Amino acid sequence: LQDPSFSADLIAWQKVYGRHSLPWQQTRDPYRVWLSEIMLQQTQVAAVIPYYQRFLERCPDVFALAEASHEEVMALWSGLGYYTRARNLHKCAKQVVEHYAGRFPSDPQLLQQLPGIGRSTAAAIAAFSYGVRAAILDGNVKRVFARVFGVEGYPGSKPIEDQLWLRAEALLPVSGIEAYTQGLMDLGASLCSRSKPNCRSCPFSQRCVAFHQDRTDELPHRKPA
Ligand code: ADE
Repeated sequence: LQDPSFSADLIAWQKVYGRHSLPWQQTRDPYRVWLSEIMLQQTQVAAVIPYYQRFLERCPDVFALAEASHEEVMALWSGLGYYTRARNLHKCAKQVVEHYAGRFPSDPQLLQQLPGIGRSTAAAIAAFSYGVRAAILDGNVKRVFARVFGVEGYPGSKPIEDQLWLRAEALLPVSGIEAYTQGLMDLGASLCSRSKPNCRSCPFSQRCVAFHQDRTDELPHRKPA
């Protein structure tokens, strides 16, 4: 499953065509990275930006958030939707203060034990704030892998998801985890979109199974009925 040219090509692409000026890319502060990743779990980048900025004005660090009232946190989140995220965010801040003296751990295994942080979010936080080599796998990344490598089967099913995690781990670069992780997110959110992917501009078109078989419509497979 290893394939060093995959990460090299993606990193080279990200440096030229990826996003570099998103607000949460201007910092390695784990608190800010964590806040952005939670907001971005179920909300588009453009909608997140003003919430992210307002949230940080009111709660500039994990201590301020831990001490804020439930009402204030919900008011800051109001409009973003999926309010379980806000409840878990507040719980998580309190636990980081209580168990880790306000410092987010760098180990994805520990991050994953905190409320609202799943395996992929833990990896993104560890990679962006501490440079830890850890694999992400969200819906966009599943789509990129399913197409490039021609992964058959529904990626939401346990066996296919396990297979994709193994791939995600095997593909990690030796260095440059930040650009690599951002590149996967950016490619999945731009060129390799669900419908009408821009294969002509894609760094992987030469090797993409879905492109060569003209099956970008079919891969990744939809949830079976
Ligand atoms: N979606 C999830 N995390 C993201 C990030 N760091 N940048 C852009 N989109 C994202």
